[in-house]
Amino acid sequence: MSLKEVDSTNNFLKNILSNSKPVPEGTVIMAEDQFAGRGQRENVWYAEPGKNLTFSILLKPNFVDARMQFDVTRVASLGVYDALSPLLGNQLSIKWPNDIYYGDKKLGGMLIENILQGSQIKNSVVGIGLNVNQNNFPDTAGNATSVTQILHKDYELKNLLAEICNHIERYYLSLKAGSVDFVRNTYLSRLYRLNEAKRYESNGEVFTGTIRGVTDNGLLIIDHADGQKHFSLKELVFLKD
Ligand code: BTN
Repeated sequence: MSLKEVDSTNNFLKNILSNSKPVPEGTVIMAEDQFAGRGQRENVWYAEPGKNLTFSILLKPNFVDARMQFDVTRVASLGVYDALSPLLGNQLSIKWPNDIYYGDKKLGGMLIENILQGSQIKNSVVGIGLNVNQNNFPDTAGNATSVTQILHKDYELKNLLAEICNHIERYYLSLKAGSVDFVRNTYLSRLYRLNEAKRYESNGEVFTGTIRGVTDNGLLIIDHADGQKHFSLKELVFLKD
């Protein structure tokens, strides 16, 4: 379903899930203008109307244990990565947990909201924001970039959306078929800064560390002078060199 404007496609999808008849798995809600988009860590997600992809996909991964919900993050990140990689090549990466990066710049991000039932995931609202045809970003957008800034060419949003959905479906079905190692290893192989010594901050401490992997449940594994440490999203800031 394509909406002219909405506060947030994640909110819209969550509302129809709680208000109406059953919503089929695979439902996609896309908005031309998302005027109150939400990002990770309570951030806002700003996107110029009509220029970018802002959409949410409904998955029902009831075969995934709630403790393993990071596998859904892996599936969604890989789907976006694979849709973009024929266009953008090897500078593309996935910045843990689920940002899409080109070099050191952010092309897109995700807000995945899982609705649990007991120890299973009942619904997963996978919200994706990708900068496609936007040329200018406010200073507050930090290190944002877009497909058009990289390739100097505009892209048809609907075609890119279809590619992303196809690739997410492919990874989702392989997860469902039990290929969890394949999904985890592929995610790892696409990771930004993997095996590179870089600077980070955690709890007021600035340190040089090397990303070595991601735990099954989604914590980032970093080699630190004191030994190997695991970090959650709230505990870690990636610093520039
Ligand atoms: C981030 O990097 O902070 C995550 C950004 C997620 C933005 C998308 S746009 C579609 C969906 N609806 C929202 O309100 N947020 C996500």
